[in-house]
Amino acid sequence: MASDNLIDGRAIADQINEETRRQIEALRERGTPPGLVFVRVGEDPASRVYVGMKEKTCARLGIESRTEVLPEDTPERELLKLIAALNADPAAHGILVQAPLPPQINEAAIFAAVSPNKDVDGFHPLNVGKLLLGDGGGFVPCTPAGVHQLLIRSGLETSGAEVVILGRGNIVGKPMAAILCQKAEHANATVTLCHSRSSDIAAHCRRADILIAAMGVPEFVKADMVKPGAVVIDVGVNRIADPAAKNGSRLVGDVDFAGVQPVAGRITPNPGGVGPMTIAMLMANTARAAAMATGMDPATLQEN
Ligand code: GUN
Repeated sequence: MASDNLIDGRAIADQINEETRRQIEALRERGTPPGLVFVRVGEDPASRVYVGMKEKTCARLGIESRTEVLPEDTPERELLKLIAALNADPAAHGILVQAPLPPQINEAAIFAAVSPNKDVDGFHPLNVGKLLLGDGGGFVPCTPAGVHQLLIRSGLETSGAEVVILGRGNIVGKPMAAILCQKAEHANATVTLCHSRSSDIAAHCRRADILIAAMGVPEFVKADMVKPGAVVIDVGVNRIADPAAKNGSRLVGDVDFAGVQPVAGRITPNPGGVGPMTIAMLMANTARAAAMATGMDPATLQEN
């Protein structure tokens, strides 16, 4: 397999993590070890894996983290109580409630209950609003922020580019569109947001200079939907049945990688593309939350 057109998410995430590690070191020297609390409700296997991976990266970079695990049948008011306690805990600079939540809990109500200053997920309505307004003072959701960094650090021009995003979810699609349509450096794209009711998605895709797949349909993007030379970013993580696999299933993205790679100009592998970037941006957001909590200008951390 030729690999010269791959966007190496692991290498770029390592670079960002090293920058964040230095910021964390500076915060620790000033008496503020950054703290992040994960909240998990129930035992969703994917959520367990994701939170476990995030915790490991915290430990590696010097962020103090812990996970609060609540039972699957936890009422919404109990989770709200825990969030209120964490909002008041000065050692918790960041709070991350892992989605999806069980059906008795209103996800939007939970995200709105997290203090916007501790909202390292960028899901609080205030931070969502700031992102849309182009106010850089809020927290940006980690996955679209990670995709943005992949583009920037790979030297891929977004200004004037036709960007087609597949998927209009609150975690990836919508904030991704908000980031790239801003009148700002590394943005200024013409953004098309496709979704389940879009007519002729393939025609939209074929126009894209940058195609970002985040709709959660296994291997949806095929070679004939990609303009030769286009940049293809695969955000999807889908478990599909595979009788040949050890546990009867395997993970695939939203892009048919084997088919699309020869057509694309640049493409993210999956795994090893967007995934490590999501975690890297969470670490960066947490360092920033800790800096803000101490009244420090987060920008001054960059110089360390
Ligand atoms: N579930 C899938 N992605 C995310 C994420 O970025 N943050 C949280 N909290 N839950 C998720």
